[in-house]
Amino acid sequence: TRVVVLISGSGSNLQALIDGQIAGELPIDIACVISNRPGVRGLERAAEAGIEALTLDHKGFDSREAFDKALAETIDAHRPDLVVLAGFMRILTPAFTSRYLGRMLNIHPSLLPKYQGLHTHQRALDAGDSEHGVTVHFVTDELDGGPAAIQAVVPVLAGDDAASLAARVQQQEHLIYPMAVRWFAEGKLSMRENKALLDGEPL
Ligand code: GRF
Repeated sequence: TRVVVLISGSGSNLQALIDGQIAGELPIDIACVISNRPGVRGLERAAEAGIEALTLDHKGFDSREAFDKALAETIDAHRPDLVVLAGFMRILTPAFTSRYLGRMLNIHPSLLPKYQGLHTHQRALDAGDSEHGVTVHFVTDELDGGPAAIQAVVPVLAGDDAASLAARVQQQEHLIYPMAVRWFAEGKLSMRENKALLDGEPL
């Protein structure tokens, strides 16, 4: 399964996928990593693993549509079966999301449908939630709204701040993202009629 990974930052989720591929636990070939921000750590992680690492700076484009069109052309040149958004901090146009419908995954640090958008850890703390977590979902034209493939739950502990809670959530991210990608690569995970299916059964 050929995979293109899109990042904007540190790339710790990318690293989890690289590690899984190297360990032989993930039947994937990461063909390319693309960042919309220059100079980020995730690009170094890709290069260190011998993976092609590209920067496509959104600041060089006049519109979201123009950026997404260039991004899609760069992605398609690598003929991926799956596009993985791993900390990719851009809102995508409907033309882009529909192009990869059913073959693009995102990871969002909340128990969706709770806390779509930004600052999820602080919002969970402010709400006094006793539990928080992370969701891997198929990407549709609804921001953080596509069908979920897997979630992990963590406790909110006394004395937590956004950073400590984020760190606890990230440990789970690095487990469930490779798991969802493996399911997809093995043909177990798919999307149909806006539902995620595992082994043909709606999740
Ligand atoms: C993760 O917390 C992810 O859930 C969020 O952005 C962060 C990316 O982290 N969407 P990294 O770049 O994979 O380290």
